[in-house]
Amino acid sequence: MQHTYTTRAALVADVPFLWEMLWEAAAVSPEIRGMGRERAFALPDVARYLEDWGRPGDAAVVAVPSDGACLGAAWSRLFPASAPGYGFVAEDIPELGIGVSPQSRGRGIGGAMLEELKVTARAQGYAALSLSVNRGNPARRLYERHGFEDLSISAPTDSSVTLLCRL
Ligand SMILES: CC(C)(COP(=O)(O)OP(=O)(O)OC[C@H]1O[C@@H](n2cnc3c(N)ncnc32)[C@H](O)[C@@H]1OP(=O)(O)O)[C@@H](O)C(=O)NCCC(=O)NCCS
Repeated sequence: MQHTYTTRAALVADVPFLWEMLWEAAAVSPEIRGMGRERAFALPDVARYLEDWGRPGDAAVVAVPSDGACLGAAWSRLFPASAPGYGFVAEDIPELGIGVSPQSRGRGIGGAMLEELKVTARAQGYAALSLSVNRGNPARRLYERHGFEDLSISAPTDSSVTLLCRL
């Protein structure tokens, strides 16, 4: 399919859109979807992915059409071991979050943003990126195609699996 979008680093003005995409990613969980956006964003486990955006290490890309609103976003952030993300591996390995607007999925946008964010993380000097995905989420195939591996970080009985992409 012809590419009708480009990827670029996210700007401060894109932060509200990052929250929209965090909702898309978080709402994969039926429990989270059921509680609605406002209550979900009041949960530290959800909000910590974007709150106080702009901390050292934070990086984000968005996909934009030639004109019009953003189509998707991917971001990465470091977490302390005392307040880890679901896909936490180490304090010096950023964890990735990603979401594409429902009407724009399946056009290669997610893959393009993953590659862009890998380039950014490499330039920042990080050795790897991690993420957490529900074992049944088809997105797992996308991540594995883009170099994310199951290194048995999570227990086989966990409903989600932590994947690592070495940079
Ligand atoms: C996962 C997601 C970011 C991928 O972006 P995308 O632009 O659709 O991805 P691409 O077009 O580059 O690649 C297609 C792949 O994305 C995944 N994908 C496509 N549509 C999807 C959907 N509705 N839900 C989950 N994954 C999807 C599949 O792995 C697909 O690969 P396949 O063709 O082998 O099945 C996007 O679909 C999305 O936001 N999904 C809902 C939220 C989500 O699951 N976020 C990730 C939480 S860990």
